[in-house]
Amino acid sequence: MKHRVLSGIRATGRLHLGNYLGAVKGMLELQADPDYETLFMVADAHAVTTPFEIEQLRKNRREVIIDYLSCGLDPVKSVIFQQAEVSQHFELAFYFSAVMTIAKMQHLPTFKDKVKQYPEHATMALLNYPLLMAADILVYKADSVPVGIDQEPHLEVTREVARRMNQEYGTDFPEPKRFATTGGYVPSLVGEGKMSKSVEGSFINLTDSLEEIQKALSTAPTDSGKGATVPTEGGVANLLKFVELFQGMERRQAYEQLYQGDGIRYKQLKDELAAAIFAVLEPIQKQRAELEAKPGYVDQVIKDGAEKARAIAKQTVDEVRQKMGLK
Ligand code: TRP
Repeated sequence: MKHRVLSGIRATGRLHLGNYLGAVKGMLELQADPDYETLFMVADAHAVTTPFEIEQLRKNRREVIIDYLSCGLDPVKSVIFQQAEVSQHFELAFYFSAVMTIAKMQHLPTFKDKVKQYPEHATMALLNYPLLMAADILVYKADSVPVGIDQEPHLEVTREVARRMNQEYGTDFPEPKRFATTGGYVPSLVGEGKMSKSVEGSFINLTDSLEEIQKALSTAPTDSGKGATVPTEGGVANLLKFVELFQGMERRQAYEQLYQGDGIRYKQLKDELAAAIFAVLEPIQKQRAELEAKPGYVDQVIKDGAEKARAIAKQTVDEVRQKMGLK
């Protein structure tokens, strides 16, 4: 039996480099592997769990599909779709809420963090976020999920839901595992934490020009460029991580030697790094320009994806209703 893969990215904006290295690259790897059947969605409904703007969301849920296609996700090989078009996700999430306690959901670190960030927005949707994610995955009985390490608590909830549903209702949900990607953790440009859409100045968008990349890198914090030990955290450590990701381990080691010797000249490092990053983004941007000229094609991909996803999702929900006495 083929492994089934489901992954998604929240539709809170255009994709950035962190999404590309942390999630999309893994999606591409799995799409190319004949042992895996792949489904990739835009988590548009998850965007309503935090404050959002209606017209922006309408735009984003389509832009992320175009970003996916530009990066090489292929509707012939993968099911590419928008979550909200497949209402079975929401139905299943509700049934799942019958096997999870409020206490358990309230104690998740991801929930607590978001409540801290948006104290006026501690909504039921936010509390239910992980159950909707569990439904996204389990409605396809997917067993592999390519996402960043920060999503591990949500996958734990997913496995617990699967176990409880199987125990109480005799369903056959798998316990999905995270599929770790090589680019796993992409640091922020501001020197702390990971690259994130919610932290100003921390990210490079996939649509950024060479000048915009240079500008983003120019504000990344540095030091004197010299010292006995190479920093392992903060701005310089992050820059070296980017060198490793885009120019390779050897280049990184060369810089580390420079640091302990003659010293790094950051202007040069940043210029070279910007060029290396742009070399990865340029073909994606060309692809995007072509897709933007074919809106009818994008519409068709979105429509076909939703139909294919619904066909699978409906079977699972029917089965769950049957087992729970609702059919
Ligand atoms: N919570 C994920 C994130 O913030 C997005 C997401 C929603 C997701 N549903 C999913 C990821 C299902 C993988 C599978 O990155």
